Amino acid sequence: MTQLTTARFITFEGIDGAGKSTHIGFVADYLRQHGVTLVATREPGGTSLGEKLRELLLHEKMHLETEALLMFASRREHIAQVIAPALERGEWVISDRFTDASFAYQGGGRGMDLRKMEVLEAWVHPQLQPDLTFLFDVPLDVARARLDSTRTLDKFEQEQADFFAATRHEYLRRAAQFPARFRMIDATQSIAEIQLELVKLLDILLEKNVASD
Ligand code: TMP
Repeated sequence: MTQLTTARFITFEGIDGAGKSTHIGFVADYLRQHGVTLVATREPGGTSLGEKLRELLLHEKMHLETEALLMFASRREHIAQVIAPALERGEWVISDRFTDASFAYQGGGRGMDLRKMEVLEAWVHPQLQPDLTFLFDVPLDVARARLDSTRTLDKFEQEQADFFAATRHEYLRRAAQFPARFRMIDATQSIAEIQLELVKLLDILLEKNVASD
């Protein structure tokens, strides 16, 4: 019998239009097929309160610090109700975005002081960091072209190129700052190529987690 021994917290990041959402379901299915019990969730959101905050965050104009505070309020609830309990049960958590998105969007994109962001991070989750973060990276023009023009774009998706350039820049800075945690995915590749890369990375993680008895 093999057993998966360690709960893992995996996050997915990237600018709007990078295509990460397509791959989260694939990763969840792959891990489940390999015996992992997991919770798939997202930010902002993931709880009943968080989903209400998401509605506000994606559609209401607000001061940039209000936006950052609400992102972290949603996150606080998410950690308390979903992430921490799942990890304590020994389950894996895969989250569509986490705190790197606040650094990238509110810090990079909107220009909020990163030291304030660090204060919020240290307050809301002093002990918790993802074990692994997939950063789906694409040039801005590719991301823009991928945004579905048939539906109404939300507040963030309507932002201009300079906002996304600054957001992407901050993501790349974070990836360089935390190389052990980040795995860069060249999201200009085909879906099949990206899945192949994901499988390789997930297999390494699964191997580290298997204990035979
Ligand atoms: P999604 O479209 O990937 O679900 O994400 C919703 C939007 O929220 C996306 O444009 C990024 C933004 N966002 C932030 O600005 N800060 C954050 O901390 C998070 C989690 C998301």
